[in-house]
Amino acid sequence: MRSAYPGMLAVLGAVLVILSVDGVTAQDPDIVKTCTDYKKKVWEETSEFSFLMEGAPIIYKTLDKCKSYAPLIIGGSPALPKEFPHAARLGNRNDDDGELSWFCGGTLISTHHVLTAAHCHFSPIGSVNIVRLGELEFDTSSDDAEPEDFTVKDHTIHPDFHYPVLYNDISVVRLDRKVSFNEYKHPACLPFADGGSDSSFIAIGWGQLEIVPRTENKKLQKVKLFNYRTRCSTTTESNDELPEGYNRTTQLCVGSSQHKDTCNGDSGGPVLIYHHSFPCMYHVMGITSVSTSCDTPDLPGLYTRVHFYLDWIKQEISKI
Ligand SMILES: *[C@@H]1O[C@H](CO)[C@@H](O)[C@H](O)[C@H]1NC(C)=O
Repeated sequence: MRSAYPGMLAVLGAVLVILSVDGVTAQDPDIVKTCTDYKKKVWEETSEFSFLMEGAPIIYKTLDKCKSYAPLIIGGSPALPKEFPHAARLGNRNDDDGELSWFCGGTLISTHHVLTAAHCHFSPIGSVNIVRLGELEFDTSSDDAEPEDFTVKDHTIHPDFHYPVLYNDISVVRLDRKVSFNEYKHPACLPFADGGSDSSFIAIGWGQLEIVPRTENKKLQKVKLFNYRTRCSTTTESNDELPEGYNRTTQLCVGSSQHKDTCNGDSGGPVLIYHHSFPCMYHVMGITSVSTSCDTPDLPGLYTRVHFYLDWIKQEISKI
């Protein structure tokens, strides 16, 4: 009788340990590995050294070029060359006259796939049929960039997205050919966690939605935004786009107290965090979904919470 009680406690303890590990640090091992492989592919150089003597051992030396950029300042500023090599811009090339219109952002997440918002496929301008990677400043070739346009092969919209309702605003776009990774074109990692414990994020974009004054919107911009957590429950009213208001399971609530930062980047573009140990790498934590007024500081915007959709994304990027 006496000995049964501690035994039960031990079992209960084991269950609690498993639950807490699952809830707090559960990282998808495939995603962790893929992220490390991506980083090594471009930023690590292994060279052979050997003494010029017969039988001397070969020594391998790894040079890690993965460096960090200047810390983000509040207020927004132009991105540096190669700082966000996963940044994609999505648009339409008119079949008749070849005219290009750019209206959404996206994030390169594999050799063939770009993550964006589902509502980008409902643009009045036309279908998303072209993706530009490796760009920094549009309409100039004197910037340190390697822009390249990719044709869209096809895309998948999340099955629970029902336009014009903006829940599950997530889509994977497949490119017609493989992206060769280099310092200008390189994927962001998928999230290791849901973003709930991150206090700030980096948003980037070419200013489709006026992230900074219009005169500068040809250059990729970066801005630091903050996790407003559940604030969106009170700031987001139910409407046709969001009949149930803010959904904390599937959406991130992110904003800034600064006047000009309250505009987010391009729809479909990322909110990012730095990789914990690789300073040159990022995780795409959110997708710019529901824009907010550009005049109201402290009015956070809603972003698709990428972590909630990992299984679906993994399934989509396994298709080339
Ligand atoms: C939030 O979204 C999830 C997933 O679609 C859903 O199961 C849940 O009921 C939603 N919560 C609210 C409060 O609408």
